[in-house]
Amino acid sequence: ADRFLLLSLLLCLLPVCLSCPALCRCFSRRAEVVCDSTPFDSFPSDSLPQNTSILTIQFTNISTITETHLNRTPNLQELHLFSNQIQNLGPHLLRGLPKLRSLDLTDNKLTNLPANVFKNSTLTWLDLSGNRLTKIPGSLFGKLPNLDNLDLPNNRLEKVTERSLDALTKLERLNLNNNKINTLDSTLQTMAPGSPSLSNLKCGCGSV
Ligand SMILES: *[C@@H]1O[C@H](CO)[C@@H](O)[C@H](O)[C@H]1NC(C)=O
Ligand SMILES: *[C@@H]1O[C@H](CO)[C@@H](O)[C@H](O)[C@H]1NC(C)=O
Ligand SMILES: *[C@@H]1O[C@H](CO)[C@@H](O)[C@H](O)[C@H]1NC(C)=O
Repeated sequence: ADRFLLLSLLLCLLPVCLSCPALCRCFSRRAEVVCDSTPFDSFPSDSLPQNTSILTIQFTNISTITETHLNRTPNLQELHLFSNQIQNLGPHLLRGLPKLRSLDLTDNKLTNLPANVFKNSTLTWLDLSGNRLTKIPGSLFGKLPNLDNLDLPNNRLEKVTERSLDALTKLERLNLNNNKINTLDSTLQTMAPGSPSLSNLKCGCGSV
């Protein structure tokens, strides 16, 4: 690790260092940045290339991420935050990301989501698997008009209210496996009319 750090410091003598966070890998032709198992406690916003379109930060100790962290990279299309320690999302996390299509927050420590965090978002693919979510704020997903894939398995959800899924008119795949939902109540049974494209529902609920 020391040698890797030394190498990164040496590379800092070249201009390339200016546009790639230390200990991360940057692929400039794809405008992709990968930070894997890096000893980060906070988001490396300052050193990200401005045209980053795919950003992966995984297996780090980052515990929070906000709108300000993402200000520098308005061209993001995919944000993969697999297996960090994220407990909090900024209330307007996606506000400056008009091109974002995919957001992966798998295996973090989220217990709840800010009510307007997805407001006006262009997401088509959202993965919140493996967190500690107990409930979905009413109409949260109403702010995701383009969403076609929603993964919520391995959380602590007890129910998913009708309102929260109401407006997901483009939803095709919904995974609710391994939560604490005991019955597939009227919520999900009446969801189909609001989500005519839904063809793949996984629930693993008590009565199914
Ligand atoms: C991103 O910016 C870097 C440095 O300015 C450039 O070399 C690279 O071609 C750009 N990549 C894309 C996909 O625009
Ligand atoms: C995260 O923090 C723990 C505890 O301080 C430490 O053992 C671990 O090495 C850290 N992980 C990374 C990727 O820095
Ligand atoms: C985005 O949100 C604002 C309010 O915050 C609203 O006025 C605007 O119509 C929204 N735009 C879209 C495309 O939904």
